[in-house]
Amino acid sequence: MREVRSIATIASHSALQILRGAKSEGFKTIVLCPRDRVSLYSRFLNFIDDIVLIDGMGDVCSDEAIRRLNEEGAVIVPHGSFVEYIGVEGLERLDVPIFGNRRLMIWEADQFLKMRMLERSGVKVPRVFRSPEEVDRLVIVKMHGAKGGRGYFLARSPEEVISKCKSLGISPDECIIQEFVIGTPMYFQYFNSVVMKRLELLGCDIRYESDVDGLRRVPVPYADSLSEPTFTVVGNIPLVVRESLLVKVFEYGEGFVRAAEELVPPGVIGPFCLEGVCRSDLEIVIFEFSGRIVAGTNLYINGSPYSWLYFDEPMSMGRRIAREIRMAEEHGMLDKVLT
Ligand SMILES: Nc1ncnc2c1ncn2[C@@H]1O[C@H](COP(=O)(O)OP(=O)(O)O)[C@@H](O)[C@H]1O
Ligand SMILES: [Mg+2]
Repeated sequence: MREVRSIATIASHSALQILRGAKSEGFKTIVLCPRDRVSLYSRFLNFIDDIVLIDGMGDVCSDEAIRRLNEEGAVIVPHGSFVEYIGVEGLERLDVPIFGNRRLMIWEADQFLKMRMLERSGVKVPRVFRSPEEVDRLVIVKMHGAKGGRGYFLARSPEEVISKCKSLGISPDECIIQEFVIGTPMYFQYFNSVVMKRLELLGCDIRYESDVDGLRRVPVPYADSLSEPTFTVVGNIPLVVRESLLVKVFEYGEGFVRAAEELVPPGVIGPFCLEGVCRSDLEIVIFEFSGRIVAGTNLYINGSPYSWLYFDEPMSMGRRIAREIRMAEEHGMLDKVLT
């Protein structure tokens, strides 16, 4: 591909921010939209040029959609809904250039590969218990393939892990049993610029998860009516971290960039997120990564306290992606940022 004329994404997650940013950088914008979401996206025709109807979120791979996108010289910007709706195989098959390394999604979608990548990054990760018998503290049990915090449970003893697995009809071998780290959740939003050869931190947030975050509203006398906490993301809260923590935050980000280069060449292109908990001893423990734009960046559609350290203009993650595509085009480097 030598010229990018438009930027496309599917109607979900961070699409508004991505397309708004693409428009600011002078691209034509396209949203791939199921019928029941047209009412939302058609409110923003000030920056959405084209609404391409699709049958469902997974329909992006249809011959018709692919033909339309290629006709428009489009690059797809993937977000969290891509893996969820199109799936890793669908994404591999998708015959349209994608911004970023599409193979990284395979690693993101697999609990075991995900942890391997984090370990290789040299970041601190939660202790993993190989079998239920080893459990000697509060743990979170994550089923393979579970997503969006659904299907996880907490337990404190080997017996509890085994009996809860049994009642769910799964074997502990299919799960990751991880120390439940106590502290403040922190999600670090990075951008790895291949063109500028630098790692940028563009924002931080805390995910608000129901009901685990809502539980603090339950008065103590009623606490015995609580059931298993759930981790469904319902929103994001902005966060600025203690400046001294940034030393580690950048080390972690650079560790991840190196690990991705080794394990999934050419490595991470553009946005990624490290997701963890800061303990009271100020150690940051990372339990997950996202190898693409995260929805927490929607907070900073007009720039963040961190983006202003790099840019003298409002720079959302969506706009930063479009800027990178523009710069790659100018430097004849499109093949380095698209896969
Ligand atoms: N090791 C851990 N310690 C503390 N909290 C955790 C840990 N792992 C996960 N969580 C909580 O569970 C949520 C969902 O887990 P995560 O690994 O991010 O899975 P998902 O793929 O569903 O997003 C996290 O956002 C966090 O609130
Ligand atoms: Mg998560």
